[in-house]
Formats: sequence, C-alpha cells, structure tokens
Amino acid sequence: MAILSALVLTTIVTVARARSLVVVNNCSESVFLYMSTSYGSIDTNVNIAQGQSANLGITSNWDGAINVSTGCNSDGSTCTTGGPTWDGNTPFSRAEFNFYLLPGSVTYDISLIYGYNVGMEISSADPSCDAFACTISSGCPVPGPGSDTCYSPCCSSASACSNGTLSAGGGGCLNNEGPGPNSPFYYETCYNAYAFPDNNGADGYVPIDFVVYTCGNTDITLTLCPGITSHFTQ
Ligand SMILES: *[C@@H]1O[C@H](CO)[C@@H](O)[C@H](O)[C@H]1NC(C)=O
Ligand SMILES: *[C@@H]1O[C@H](CO)[C@@H](O)[C@H](O)[C@H]1NC(C)=O
Ligand SMILES: *[C@@H]1O[C@H](CO)[C@@H](O)[C@H](O)[C@H]1NC(C)=O
Repeated sequence: MAILSALVLTTIVTVARARSLVVVNNCSESVFLYMSTSYGSIDTNVNIAQGQSANLGITSNWDGAINVSTGCNSDGSTCTTGGPTWDGNTPFSRAEFNFYLLPGSVTYDISLIYGYNVGMEISSADPSCDAFACTISSGCPVPGPGSDTCYSPCCSSASACSNGTLSAGGGGCLNNEGPGPNSPFYYETCYNAYAFPDNNGADGYVPIDFVVYTCGNTDITLTLCPGITSHFTQ
C-alpha cells in the first residue's frame, strides 16, 4: 500500500511538472489567439469556442506572448478586437510568458498596454505561485469596440489610439516607457497587470507595481474571463 501510494505520488508530481500552456475560454464568446514568438514555438492562430480549452503545444523554451482577439471571422483575418495586425484601433489584452530565461521556471505577466478586451488569469499547478488576474467590468476611460473593452492606457481618445498613431511598441505612452494619459485607471483597477511599459520599475518610472512573476512550476493555465482580479503585493 505504501509502495503504491509512493508510485501514485511520483506519477502526480511528474505530471504536475510537465511544461505546458493550456488556455481555458470561460468567456461568453469564442476567441482567436494570435501569438508573438521570440524563441521556441507554439501552435499559432488558435480558435477556441466558448467553454472550450486548448493545449498550445509549446516547446520547452518558448518565449512569447498571446494577443487575444474576439468577434473574428472564421479564419481570424478580421476581428472586432485584437486581430492579425496592430493598428491601434482594435484593443486587446495580452499574456506574456518566458519559459526560456530560467530553465524549469516560467516568468509571466498580463499586459494591458494595447488595451483590454477580455479578463485573464495566469495560474500554475503550484498554488504557491501567485496567480495574477485582471477583470475590468466597467468604467473604461475610453471604451473600445464590442462590449466591456477599453482602448490603450497610452492614448487619451479613440482617435489618438487609431490609425497607427500608437506604435506596436507602445509608443503612445511617455517615451515608450512611462505612464500614458489613462494608465492610472489601469493600475488602480488591475494591480498585477502592466498599465504602461515600465510599470515594473524599469528606468525609474512610478508607480512600481508587482506585475511580473517567476514560478518554479511550468504547468501553466491561462484562463480567459476568470471574473476575478488579483491584488498580490511583493
Ligand atoms: C501582437 O501584439 C503586438 C503588440 O501590439 C504586435 O506587435 C504583434 O504584431 C501582434 N502579433 C500578432 C500575431 O497579432
Ligand atoms: C482614421 O483615418 C481615416 C482615413 O484617414 C479616417 O477616415 C478616420 O476617421 C480615422 N479614424 C479615427 C478614429 O481617427
Ligand atoms: C467563469 O466566469 C464566471 C463568471 O465570471 C465565474 O463565476 C467563474 O468562476 C469562471 N470560471 C473559471 C473557471 O474561471
């Protein structure tokens, strides 16, 4: 019996340590995921129906981000939010992961620099790792297309965000580093998500928020529309 338990435990631990990235779509609509990859590989252009989930098949060293889109046509070429190319007009929430930097660990964050379209929670199989979560249900300073979406904190109006004036690098915020005109709403609403590029304390900008987490368990779940917001402090 003791031997059996030990075997079962070993199996569970091995499974829990498997490196994976699963996306759970808890939203009331389907989502289309566009990936940006700096290193390694991941499934691309993934459509997940309402209530479904997908294992994104990452390689052990994947370093990149997921741009979430909604209201897309079947091949994802046109979307209400997000979409294949960034023009500033279709805001989106972005989840960023680095499995490459520290082998056996993953560094993750939620970025709202390009705006907000769906809530997110990033959790791991190890409950001692902080599960960052952000949900914005009302009060966007500049409401975006669709329902409960918000334009980027880096620009003060829809027209200022649109037509390419907000560069892919987040150029609408101060020097592509410091807070933009609507960053305060974002960091006061979602404490553990980027509200401007250097919200992690880089280059001396304030406030310095707890927006990046490194977890020693690489079995990761990204839940869309979790309905909650985290408030972890460092
Ligand atoms: C994801 O978003 C970034 C930042 O706006 C953008 O540069 C990139 O082109 C997007 N990638 C895809 C595949 O949508
Ligand atoms: C974007 O540019 C087009 C063409 O110049 C213009 O018709 C449209 O009003 C602009 N959109 C915004 C939101 O400024
Ligand atoms: C899905 O969303 C609902 C409503 O926001 C929430 O109550 C529920 O806990 C969420 N489920 C998961 C698995 O995140």
